[in-house]
Amino acid sequence: MTEHIQLNAAQETALSRDFTTLSRHVLSHLGSYSPDAYDLSALMGRIGLAGKMISRHLSRAGLVEDALGVTGEVNVQGEAVKKMDQYANRVFIRAFEQSGLVCRLASEEMEKPYYIPENCPIGRYTLLFDPIDGSSNIDSNLAVGSIFSVRQQEGFDEGDAKDLLQNGHKQIAAGYILYGSSTMLAYSVGKGVHAFTLDPSLGEFILSQENLRIPAHGSTYSINEGNFCQWEESMRDYIRYIHRQPGYSGRYSGALVADIHRILFQGGVFLYPGTIDRPDGKLRLLYESAPLAYLVTQAGGRAITGKEDILDVVPQKLHARTPLIIGSPDDVTLVESFLTGQKDAIAAVG
Ligand code: AHG
Ligand code: MN
Ligand code: MN
Repeated sequence: MTEHIQLNAAQETALSRDFTTLSRHVLSHLGSYSPDAYDLSALMGRIGLAGKMISRHLSRAGLVEDALGVTGEVNVQGEAVKKMDQYANRVFIRAFEQSGLVCRLASEEMEKPYYIPENCPIGRYTLLFDPIDGSSNIDSNLAVGSIFSVRQQEGFDEGDAKDLLQNGHKQIAAGYILYGSSTMLAYSVGKGVHAFTLDPSLGEFILSQENLRIPAHGSTYSINEGNFCQWEESMRDYIRYIHRQPGYSGRYSGALVADIHRILFQGGVFLYPGTIDRPDGKLRLLYESAPLAYLVTQAGGRAITGKEDILDVVPQKLHARTPLIIGSPDDVTLVESFLTGQKDAIAAVG
């Protein structure tokens, strides 16, 4: 006679956790077993696979070829291409070839979208991504990330991908992978934000935080203060105000993903404002600012350019940049009040 085997409560809890893998979570979270839900779940699984391969390569960076240093080329942004930028870009492409899921991929490292013709009749999705965010950190063995955004192709693309030039509300999924002291992935499909930790022994992203909520306020402000003299006066006033307040800590890693990860969990604000030389700042809308804005908004935070919500911005071109102020709602609103000229009232209180 077969007995129903029951483990103790702690063992059952551990088993449930270990089986809550990324693609399983997407499917159960969508609450549907429709073909679309399966596609999105498979798509997230492929993003996870790309993340695992990049994580593996980074973890052995000093031992393998093509992980450290620059290629000698300059990308469409005018920035030196790191070997790891190129490798990670290729990993994302290879992860989606023959997947039937994604017809186009657009990234920071490619001037034009990359088409996968054999997927196009069926693959209705476009993946926009920053393969390595914070790549100047690689040679110092510091945290870097990948950022991703999924959009649905609209209409017929004549090869100019014009339908990608739409606001951030059009994203159907977005998130990041953080290659830190552990590798983590956070995603949203418009139903909250969920974080996973890569268990290297299983080779799986396992759910570690479900329905993350960003604190309303945090003590961290994250900005490159080396640009202080390049900002508008209202931004300088905000930073001077923060300097006078007790309890704030400046934290800036050089990788947007790492800085926003901290803020998502602990609260605070990340800022990359425009400068005299670059009024639209440095960060690219479609594959940096918009996906992170989607994620942080889903967690109860805010993301603005200073003048409008990041998710409302319609880019003029694929590689368009925007200023970015993102994080806890109260902290973003405080910055906004300085930038929109209500600062005197606030400064008087402080
Ligand atoms: P990337 O490596 O994809 O070009 O992105 C780097 C970005 C972002 O991650 C970071 O916050 C910012 O650039 C750092 O720029 P500064 O060195 O100008 O502060
Ligand atoms: Mn980046
Ligand atoms: Mn990058």
